[in-house]
Amino acid sequence: MCGIVGVLGNGPVAGQLVEALKRLEYRGYDSAGVATLEQGRITRVRASGKLKNLEEKLALHPLAGAIGIGHTRWATHGKPTELNAHPHAGAKVAVVHNGIIENFRELREELQARGASFASETDSEVVAHLVAEGLARGEAPSTAVASALRRLKGAFALAFLFEGEEDLLIGARRGSPLAVGWGNEGVYLGSDALALAPFAHTISYLDEGDWVVLRRVEVQFHDADDKRVDRRRQPLLAGSFLVDKGNFRHFMAKEIHEQPEVVGRTLAHYLDLAEGVVNLPFDFGFDPKSLSRITISACGTAFYAGLAARYWLERFAHLSVDIDIASEFRYRDPPLLENGLMVVVSQSGETADTLAALRYARAQGQHTLAIVNVETSTIARESELVAKTLAGPEIGVASTKAFTCQLIVFACLAIALGRARNVLSIEQERELVSQLIAAPAQMAETLSDERQVETVARDVARAESVLYLGRGPAFPLAMEGALKLKELSYIHAEGYAAGELKHGPIALIDYAMPVIVLAPPDASLEKTVSNLQEVAARGGHLILIGSRTAHTAAAAPLAGFIELSEQVSGPFAIVVYAVIIQLLAYHVAVFMGKDVDQPRNLAKSVTVE
Ligand code: F6R
Repeated sequence: MCGIVGVLGNGPVAGQLVEALKRLEYRGYDSAGVATLEQGRITRVRASGKLKNLEEKLALHPLAGAIGIGHTRWATHGKPTELNAHPHAGAKVAVVHNGIIENFRELREELQARGASFASETDSEVVAHLVAEGLARGEAPSTAVASALRRLKGAFALAFLFEGEEDLLIGARRGSPLAVGWGNEGVYLGSDALALAPFAHTISYLDEGDWVVLRRVEVQFHDADDKRVDRRRQPLLAGSFLVDKGNFRHFMAKEIHEQPEVVGRTLAHYLDLAEGVVNLPFDFGFDPKSLSRITISACGTAFYAGLAARYWLERFAHLSVDIDIASEFRYRDPPLLENGLMVVVSQSGETADTLAALRYARAQGQHTLAIVNVETSTIARESELVAKTLAGPEIGVASTKAFTCQLIVFACLAIALGRARNVLSIEQERELVSQLIAAPAQMAETLSDERQVETVARDVARAESVLYLGRGPAFPLAMEGALKLKELSYIHAEGYAAGELKHGPIALIDYAMPVIVLAPPDASLEKTVSNLQEVAARGGHLILIGSRTAHTAAAAPLAGFIELSEQVSGPFAIVVYAVIIQLLAYHVAVFMGKDVDQPRNLAKSVTVE
C-alpha cells in the first residue's frame, strides 16, 4: 500500500521526507520518490526498489528545497519502475497518490485528446494533468485541486506541490487516510501518525471527503462540499501511534472506516488494474481444470466469508463447494476427493480448529490454500498456497476489515478459477472485475452517511432479540450481521435464509422483535421482498437495508430503512452491505454502553479448541 508524506519546513526537507517514508515501509512498497521546490521549480528524484536506492540517488543529487512531498509506491497500474514512481508531474504541479482512480482510463483519453502527454502508465498521473489544466486556465492551486477532485472516482489520498509556491501544500482524502501534523520545525502531511511521529507534536486527521491547504502559519480544512471546517487537533503521543485510534472512539470504528483503503489495497494485490482482470500473485501448482471440488473450513466471521464465497465459486467457476465450520470438519473424518482444494480462512492464522482442519486436509493429500491476514502465522506457514488479505492489524476483537478483505480474495479466486476453467469469458471477467473495483468508493460513500445507521441502532438497542434475513450471498451476511450484534451488544440475534422464514422462524414474528432484511438489488431481490411482505403481514417490526428500488418494491410499513446507492448491486454487493451490518452492531453497542473493542468473554485469537 502506498505511503504519502509532505513537509513544509524551515530548511532542506529531503531528509525528513525520506525518514517519514521509512516509517511507512511497513505498508509494503516497490519504488519511492520525493519532490521539492528548488528556486521555485519542482525537482523530483525517484527510484525503483527500496528506499536505500532513493537515498543513494539523493546523495548524488541532493535536494535543497524547504518544501516537498514524498511517496512509497506499491504498484497497481504499471510496473514498479522509476518512471511509474511518484511524485508525478503535470505543468507546474507534482502529486503523490495512494489508492485507485477508478475512472483513470476515460480521464486519460480525455486529457490526451486535449494535448496532455503522459510519462507513466499509472492512474495517478491523470490527477497531475487535471490540476495542471486548471492552473493553465488561471485558477488558483486550491481551485484547480477542488475542481480536479470533482472529476475523480475511486478511493484515494493525495498530496500536491506547486511550482513557484514555496508556502503551499494541498492534501485530499477520499477513502484512504491522511493526517496533518504540526511540529516545531514545520507542518506535515502523512498517511498515518506513524510517519509524522518524529516531527509533529499535534495531529489532525482529515475526515472522509476533506481536502486541506497547508501554509506554515495556517492550515485550512475543507469538507467534501468545499466548505471551510475545523478538524480536532490532538496530541501525538510517542509510542501510541501503531495502535492509534485516529479520530475514532474505538478501534472497531476506525477499522470499519479503514475498509475502503484496505479493500482497495487487497484488490490491487489480486488484480491487474490497468487491464481490468484478475492477476493472482501465486501459481496454483496444479491445473485448475482438473480440480474435483473445493472444501472450505473456518470459524466465526471467517466461516461466513467462506459461505458467501460458495455462491461465487459455484457460479463463476462451476466448482462444487463443501463448507463446514472447522470445529466440526476436523472431527467428521470427511472423505476428500482426489485433486480437491482445501481453503482455510483465518484473520489471525492461529485459530486452533482451523489449523487442525488444514492439517487434516494436508494429511488427506489435498491441495491447500490459506486466506490469512497475518502472513507469519502458523496457518500461513503450514499451507501450500497463501493468499493474504491486506487488512493490516485488526485490533478490535470483532472482525470487520479482515472479513471484507477475505470476501475480496475469494471473489478474485472465483473469477480466476472461472477463467482458468473456461467458464468465464474475458468480457465476463472484465465486467465482474469492474464491479469489484467500484467497491472501495462505494464503501466510502456508504460510510459517509452514518447517521441513518445510528437512527436504526437506537431502535434495535431496545430489542431483546433480532432476526436478520437475506438470500444468496446476503444470507451469510445476515448470519454475520447477527453474530456482530450478539458479540457486541449481547442481544440475541439470528441470521436466516429469507426463504426459510416460513419453515419455522415466522412463528417468532411480533412487533417487539426487529426483523432486519438485507435486500441488495440482485437476482433474488423480488423473492426477498416477498419474504419481507410476509413479515409485514404479521405486524412485524421491519428494518430494511437496501436501495430505493427495494424500498419502493417493499410497499410495507417499515420501522427503519438504511438506504444504499442503487449502484451497489450484483453478486459482490454484500462487500459494501457488510459495512452497514458492522456499523449497526457498533452503534447499538455504543448506545448500550458496551465494551465495543473487547466484548465480554471474547478473545481475538482462539488458539485453543
Ligand atoms: C467475530 C470474530 C470471530 C473470528 C473467529 C475466527 O467477529 O472475530 O468469529 O472470526 O474466531 O478467527 P480467525 O479469523 O482469526 O481464524
